[in-house]
Amino acid sequence: MLNLTHALASIEKSSGLSNACYVHAAMFQHEKNTLFRDKWTALGFGKDISEQGIVKPITFLGIPMIMARDWALEINVFQNVCRHRGIILVEKSQRLRGSITCPYHAWIHDLNGNLRKTPNIGGPNINTVDSVQHCESLLIGMRSHVWNEMFFVSISEAAPAFELYAAQLMTW
Ligand code: FES
Repeated sequence: MLNLTHALASIEKSSGLSNACYVHAAMFQHEKNTLFRDKWTALGFGKDISEQGIVKPITFLGIPMIMARDWALEINVFQNVCRHRGIILVEKSQRLRGSITCPYHAWIHDLNGNLRKTPNIGGPNINTVDSVQHCESLLIGMRSHVWNEMFFVSISEAAPAFELYAAQLMTW
């Protein structure tokens, strides 16, 4: 770990963080672990996906995610990874006409993460197989919460519910 002696000195003697703190890989990892990994983090605004059908890819702590505004105007967050072969589903922000279609084998998920169609999964014009149950094959959801149009995500099940975590903030 970096030497923080100067930064931790009294205010009269402190010279702040060294430049290395801003570029050092170990420091970055330390910050990710202590500031973000088991907390809630604001990652965007509701206006970023203001209309039904808009999806926006984001990456947080190396995890690719999709923010999606569904047809009931709720915001959902999923891992941006197809459950079939792990390909990235959404490469850029866009307004979808209906659902999220995987660019590889065209499996289709709705904006709530439910798998709806698996075209040709069993061969030409055979769109279902017993081993893939649509109702059980969901995109992996992330814990999320919208407060005052700010959009928060937690990647950890250890973080308390957002209302508890941000109770003091929410009194504003
Ligand atoms: S990788 Fe997505 S449908 Fe095959």
